[in-house]
Amino acid sequence: MEKLMIRGGRPLRGTVQISGAKNSAVALLPASLLAESEVVLDNLPRLSDVAVYSEILQELGGKVTWDGGVMKIDPSSLQSKPMPNGRVNLLRASYYLMGALLGRFGEATIGLPGGCNFEPRPIDQHIKGFEALGATVTNDHGSIKISAKQLRGAKIYLDVVSVGATINIMLAASKAKGSTIIENAAKEPEIIDVATLLNSMGAKIKGAGTETIRIEGVDSLHGCRHSIIPDRIQAGTYMIAAAATRGDVLIDNVIPKHMEAMTAKLLEMGVQVYELDEAIRIVGGPSYEAVDVKALVYPGFATDLQSPMTSLLTQANGVSVLSDYVYSNRFKHVPELVRMGANIKVEGRSAIIEGGPLNAAKVRAADLRAGAALTVAGLTVADGVTEVTGVEYIDRGYDFLVDNLRKLGADVWRENE
Ligand code: EPU
Repeated sequence: MEKLMIRGGRPLRGTVQISGAKNSAVALLPASLLAESEVVLDNLPRLSDVAVYSEILQELGGKVTWDGGVMKIDPSSLQSKPMPNGRVNLLRASYYLMGALLGRFGEATIGLPGGCNFEPRPIDQHIKGFEALGATVTNDHGSIKISAKQLRGAKIYLDVVSVGATINIMLAASKAKGSTIIENAAKEPEIIDVATLLNSMGAKIKGAGTETIRIEGVDSLHGCRHSIIPDRIQAGTYMIAAAATRGDVLIDNVIPKHMEAMTAKLLEMGVQVYELDEAIRIVGGPSYEAVDVKALVYPGFATDLQSPMTSLLTQANGVSVLSDYVYSNRFKHVPELVRMGANIKVEGRSAIIEGGPLNAAKVRAADLRAGAALTVAGLTVADGVTEVTGVEYIDRGYDFLVDNLRKLGADVWRENE
């Protein structure tokens, strides 16, 4: 295992290129299994979750080649195969195999998903969706077994706005007989990305990105070429890091519209933000105002940026309140930030953050975004070296992190633990 070493206190300066979106990639890979010929995905991020997913596709009989950012997936000789454990347990997004294999073969047995377990993450809405489409779902010793003789379109109202359930239902319903309507669907850009891929494969999906999605089932889907959208969470993390170090960074390959909630909060704090066509420039200042932040479903402030935002708010003057309305207890980064001298209290679903300087410490990332938070915090500390263990979590969502930060002038490196 490695740890990330950070000697902070240097303003980040320069340009950083944002990769393709992780949370799109881990849905597009299983979606490609619904095709009967080759799917080519461009702009794929170099992440451990993507590597594990490509191995899962090969276990299922898919032929995969991955060269630079381009992955070619030929699912023509795919076989229906139960996957009760093994690699599926390493990923949260392995739950998309349920919808994809159900659509392709009318059956799927998938071990309960792993991934970042910062709190219990139920999948009842996914199951409700499969059952509405006519599937039988059972829990067999920790594996979810789903089967349907014939999937049939249905009207499905999601009780909770869920990214995963929305995508999983789209995957299965693309191959159902008749039309499906998902009401109270999630609106995240990654959902539009998956619908775009499926439509290029021959699916008939309308309304992705709104709360009502209509899917007309088709008999078969074919291969295509698709370029993945930029990672808005990676982009937001660099925006935060640029502001926290009072730097001047051009964040390139972003869709500024996806960053609106983040941009609004930075402006409110007194950070200068300049939106270009496909880039955002962040210019930090000597002092920032405290602000209140509410993490909500898209287009609200992203819960995945809540943790790094906590670190930035330690650099503001006064008291900020950051509440998460997507996950009630996603605060594993807080005790670690407190070890670095932060003055933060968690009350219910809110963190109350009083601004003040941080100090270097040995800290542990308990999940991916907690890792991002601790990296941002370390970058603000000039005296001493901050050591972040749990780097394997960071590798799930930030490719080339050390290279990118070094290019921006940061003094960071990895060492064996
Ligand atoms: N929920 C339910 N029942 C369900 C599904 C969700 O109660 O059946 C609840 C969850 O517990 C949560 C809320 O609904 O409180 C939203 O969960 P959602 O299903 O939208 O989350 P997800 O699909 O499991 C994706 C991202 C997460 C991101 C969330 C919210 C992927 C692979 N993961 O998870 O990303 O936090 O949406 O935007 O797309 C990350 O990248 O670090 C990460 C955790």
